[in-house]
Amino acid sequence: METYDGAPEPGGVPALSDAPISEADEAAAPVPDAEEAAVVVEQPVKLLPVAELHLHIEGTLEPELIFALAERNGIELPYADLDELRACYEFTDLQSFLDLYYANMAVLQTEQDFADMTRAYLERAAAAGVRHAEIMVDPQAHVSRGVPLETCVNGVASVLANSLAEFGVSTLLIAAFLRDLSEESALDVLEQLLAMNAPIAGIGLDSAEVGNPPAKFERLFARAKEAGLHRIAHAGEEGPPSYIIDALELLDVERIDHGIRCMEDPELVEHLVAERVPLTVCPLSNVRLRAVDTLAEHPLPAMLAAGLNVSVNSDDPAYFGGYVDDNFVQLQTVLGLSEFDRVRLASNSIRSSFADDERKTELLAELGYS
Ligand code: HPA
Ligand code: ZN
Repeated sequence: METYDGAPEPGGVPALSDAPISEADEAAAPVPDAEEAAVVVEQPVKLLPVAELHLHIEGTLEPELIFALAERNGIELPYADLDELRACYEFTDLQSFLDLYYANMAVLQTEQDFADMTRAYLERAAAAGVRHAEIMVDPQAHVSRGVPLETCVNGVASVLANSLAEFGVSTLLIAAFLRDLSEESALDVLEQLLAMNAPIAGIGLDSAEVGNPPAKFERLFARAKEAGLHRIAHAGEEGPPSYIIDALELLDVERIDHGIRCMEDPELVEHLVAERVPLTVCPLSNVRLRAVDTLAEHPLPAMLAAGLNVSVNSDDPAYFGGYVDDNFVQLQTVLGLSEFDRVRLASNSIRSSFADDERKTELLAELGYS
């Protein structure tokens, strides 16, 4: 696979000479017509420098690492071998995935385990073109099985601290809360994270969406805002468009994770476009969790055409068939996504990140914006 060198190609990319962090050029960018979008591109996919904004670190536990950690920690897995484990990766919906995702976390016991998992992700992400990553961790999923909060946070954070020097990937850590647990549990863990001065930049909301609406977590998000933390939430993955509205209105989130079901509500789409609300879309995840039937039917092209601020992310790459580069390759080959759109998705990811302006400018320059 070629590496993106930042040099605009004739006719291939939008004009890239505007001010780096201005959003006006993005909003005004022309949309390729349907005929152009339908052409399947057979050229090699170029690796674009991107920010990964929707990534669960526990979802990067590859089967081989699950077995290696189980052996190191003397844990007996309910699978005889890798093939038997991989045979479980046929999901029917979000919950069927979550059941396996939480079960496999049993192998994460020590700081070293969390560090090894994080290092493996960063190494793979760097090879995928990721230059900035905002990484979610699920502290409650570890505390609830007896792993101290410090073990999990310090294990991940110790690797993130050297990530820019080691992998060229700047990082931020986001504590995600499990929406199928109580708000009291979330508040309790958030207070502990604040008390230990955990290096978190924000909070998120994940796990089983339907039946656990944003309204359940108003106090949690108010507390996070008061503590100066960024706020994001999964919404509109399996849940209805109203959950996206409520996450914005009741939780004051700055980004929506997934958000694909916004397409069922034209008024909501209009609002999201007007406000440039970032939606961190995860195409391969949506297919594997059956939120959409096939990649060919994924709403991403329609979302781009509507002018939504979308980015491409991997969610739980070890479970869903690929990292960010795999998502881009499949989008290009299956949906014929143009280079114009791929550059737009990459610049959306950088602009929608919580990185500081200096880092954003640096990464946009790598993408060809100067
Ligand atoms: N959706 C909701 N919660 C999650 C996911 C997801 O895709 N991955 C890990 N936790
Ligand atoms: Zn997710």
